[in-house]
Amino acid sequence: MTPFFQLHSGLMREGPGTPDDVRWALDVAKTPLRARICDAACGPGADAVTLAASRPAGSVHAIDKMRHFVVAARSRLSQFPARVTVEQGDMTEISGPYDLIWCAGALYFVGVTEGLNAWTRALAPGGRVAFSEPCLLGKPSGAVAEFWAEYPEITDYDGIVVRVRKAGYRVLHHRMIVGAGWEAYYRPMQARIDLLRPTASPDLIEVLDEGQREIDLWRSAPDEIAYALLVVEPA
Ligand SMILES: C[S@@+](CC[C@H](N)C(=O)[O-])C[C@H]1O[C@@H](n2cnc3c(N)ncnc32)[C@H](O)[C@@H]1O
Repeated sequence: MTPFFQLHSGLMREGPGTPDDVRWALDVAKTPLRARICDAACGPGADAVTLAASRPAGSVHAIDKMRHFVVAARSRLSQFPARVTVEQGDMTEISGPYDLIWCAGALYFVGVTEGLNAWTRALAPGGRVAFSEPCLLGKPSGAVAEFWAEYPEITDYDGIVVRVRKAGYRVLHHRMIVGAGWEAYYRPMQARIDLLRPTASPDLIEVLDEGQREIDLWRSAPDEIAYALLVVEPA
């Protein structure tokens, strides 16, 4: 197993968010009871569990490009054998039709405008997309700006709306993921770092240090960065 997956093995989620964020999106998107839902870039599958549990008459297709996460998600979702499928693949190639495409903390891999463009054809009539995206809450301090320099497209909330509109979508609702959603991601990761460090190889130490830097950065400036959760639809 690679050092990255040694650290991430067993983690419930791979980005900030809570089950309440998923239920909020289903609610404001008015996702039907028998909805066909895609969890695009499902990671280890925590949100797909909430999606499936919240729409017991619906179906969930979870997709991720990394085999390790697909295996973890399959195991986590085996409690819904008849209604949930987990596939290894590219989220931009889904064909649907879906009433809701849920995408937590992953649209930035392909770009907000590009990803939404690709999903227009995968939405059922009246279908909606809910996605979370890194969002600056003001002018970032040096350390935060340096960390996010690897994602130069990052903007504040208004900038995200511009990218949504460029894809021919409109925003129906949004809210910010702060505090609890980040703790839900970082607390288990911190526990994993503390567990692995005493016996870690040099390669693994490098990955643990990187994870620790990320956690420390957020803890030092929680008011500077959020994930914006948006519910959007083709305009
Ligand atoms: C930050 S993680 C978020 C995972 C999950 N949504 C969560 O919140 O726990 C990003 C995920 O996006 C997946 N990913 C990135 N690009 C992808 C693509 N083009 N198609 C499918 N999955 C992708 C990665 O494998 C990873 O699991």
